[in-house]
Amino acid sequence: MRIDKMLSNLGFGSRKEVKKLLKDGAVQVNQKVIKDSGHHVDSEKDAVTVHGEEVLYREFIYLMMNKPPGVISATEDSRDQTVIDLLELEDSVLEPFPVGRLDKDTEGLLLITNDGQLAHKLLSPKKHVPKTYFAVIDGEVTEEDVHAFKKGVVLDDGYETKPGDLNILKSGIRSDIELTITEGKFHQVKRMFQAVGKRVVYLQRLSMGPLALDESLELGEYRELTEEELEALMKYEV
Ligand code: URA
Repeated sequence: MRIDKMLSNLGFGSRKEVKKLLKDGAVQVNQKVIKDSGHHVDSEKDAVTVHGEEVLYREFIYLMMNKPPGVISATEDSRDQTVIDLLELEDSVLEPFPVGRLDKDTEGLLLITNDGQLAHKLLSPKKHVPKTYFAVIDGEVTEEDVHAFKKGVVLDDGYETKPGDLNILKSGIRSDIELTITEGKFHQVKRMFQAVGKRVVYLQRLSMGPLALDESLELGEYRELTEEELEALMKYEV
């Protein structure tokens, strides 16, 4: 790859700005100053530094965020802050996007990557990747609801859902539940409860396929996936 393209992709500025960096002698490849913008580097083997700082190039980025409420799962929005706005520049320059959508008021696990192939695999309706949510429900969740969800419920638009695995953690005027579903229809969890006459008042995603929310992440915080998490996602077949 051309050195100017690599540095520009990494957020060191436009091609023109990068050209100036090179001209100024700020860039070294394998300890030799390189001034030619067209110089080719092997991002795997060559040691590149800018102002003496080592530059690591990589194509893909995989982040786990604990999505806070009030933020949109999109790359851009004219009104609201997006999850991408919460990233450090060094991460956002790689142009990652959220894998699937959580509602503005939903919290919890969100995978953010620029690996389109992985995103496609996880989102494909054919794959039925299980997603587990914790929710607080206004109303008493009963065994009848568990059976109804196991059979599949009919949503407001007439769609009959695939079976959902409902686990009641606490039942009362307000109930705590966990629900695992294998689809991702718009507002699906909220609409499934609506179908049995109840309302979701808090929703948090706990897991997606083999990936579980790291509970040590505060709302709005994120981290890179560990090697184990990434390997589990790559190997994952539903
Ligand atoms: N189901 C919902 O209703 N909302 C979400 O954000 C995710 C699943």
